[in-house]
Amino acid sequence: MSVVILGIESSCDDTSAAVIRDGQLLSNLISSQDVHRAFGGVVPELASRAHQINIIPVVDQAIKKASISKSEINAVAFTRGPGLLGSLLVGSSFAKGFAIAQKIPLIQINHLQGHILSHFIQAKGIDKHPAFPFLCLLVSGGHTQLVVIRDYLNMEIIGQSIDDAAGEAFDKCAKIMGLPYPGGPVIDKLAAVGNPNAFQFAKPLQHGLDFSFSGLKTSFLYFLRDRLEDDPDFIEKNKEDLCASLQFTIISILLEKVKKAAKLTKIDEVAIAGGVSANSGLRNALTQLGEKNGWNVYIPEFRFTTDNAAMIAIAGYYKYLRGEFSSHDVIPLARFPL
Ligand code: KG4
Ligand code: ZN
Repeated sequence: MSVVILGIESSCDDTSAAVIRDGQLLSNLISSQDVHRAFGGVVPELASRAHQINIIPVVDQAIKKASISKSEINAVAFTRGPGLLGSLLVGSSFAKGFAIAQKIPLIQINHLQGHILSHFIQAKGIDKHPAFPFLCLLVSGGHTQLVVIRDYLNMEIIGQSIDDAAGEAFDKCAKIMGLPYPGGPVIDKLAAVGNPNAFQFAKPLQHGLDFSFSGLKTSFLYFLRDRLEDDPDFIEKNKEDLCASLQFTIISILLEKVKKAAKLTKIDEVAIAGGVSANSGLRNALTQLGEKNGWNVYIPEFRFTTDNAAMIAIAGYYKYLRGEFSSHDVIPLARFPL
């Protein structure tokens, strides 16, 4: 008998629904919220209101696009956290209602676990999946972690940021330069035509496998403040080089720790996941590093890097196979460690 899972993701500002049958992706719909752009960041109250408007049409389209009927769905998986509480409430309440109406089990998913398990989505064009154990650099807007994955549902964090996440470093530095939110993709684009060695920024010293990005953000801010005193057009004139140099610094901080982790754990299966794994500089640098070190490198397709429900549905599939269902008392969690 085949297993059909409906996945629901609503942890931040994307409302997403996906359908997966036996690990195979049938549909993955994402409705992004432009309403936040004018505010330079996600406004939690506006996000939850937009989720309320979007959730029913997005789920409806995901089911239609999958060419299945509601009655074929075996379980509904939803993001329990971490994320914005109001946003999570919309997705979890919808999932509970759907589960009750369809008389099917409910499965809670940790969003971070979802990002990592996105490597197991079976879809057209994806021909390889990591072998256990593998190492994953999880880089998103809220998290930067090095994780050892021993099995689908057995993960251990071996390093993490003690302050800002890598995505936050991109977004905050972009804001300092007056670039629109989210800054990561904008910096990525500008960096492609800039010189990564034009400027040097301090790389915070962090021992072991932990990361730190807040020092970089501060040094970037002070560097620009000093340069702007001499030339008010400094940012405009050097935008591409600033982005390339900043991106180069962030990537070096990340990959230095990946190298260290691979050596310490003796694992040569290396993956990246999360929104920042969409960064072309990071994707290229990791590919090169993998070739140099003889690693098998796994880079997610672009559509599975930023928030999506396909990753929640695939995580739900593995939990379904193990009979890990949730009660309807389960509440969303703004903080929810892996
Ligand atoms: O995983 P995600 O969609 O949401 C969270 O779980 O946080 O990650 C969002 C983060 C944002 O900080 C965004 O700027 C960053 O991913 N991001 C990028 C790129 N695309 C998205 N950062 C660098 N380069 C990109 N191309
Ligand atoms: Zn995410």
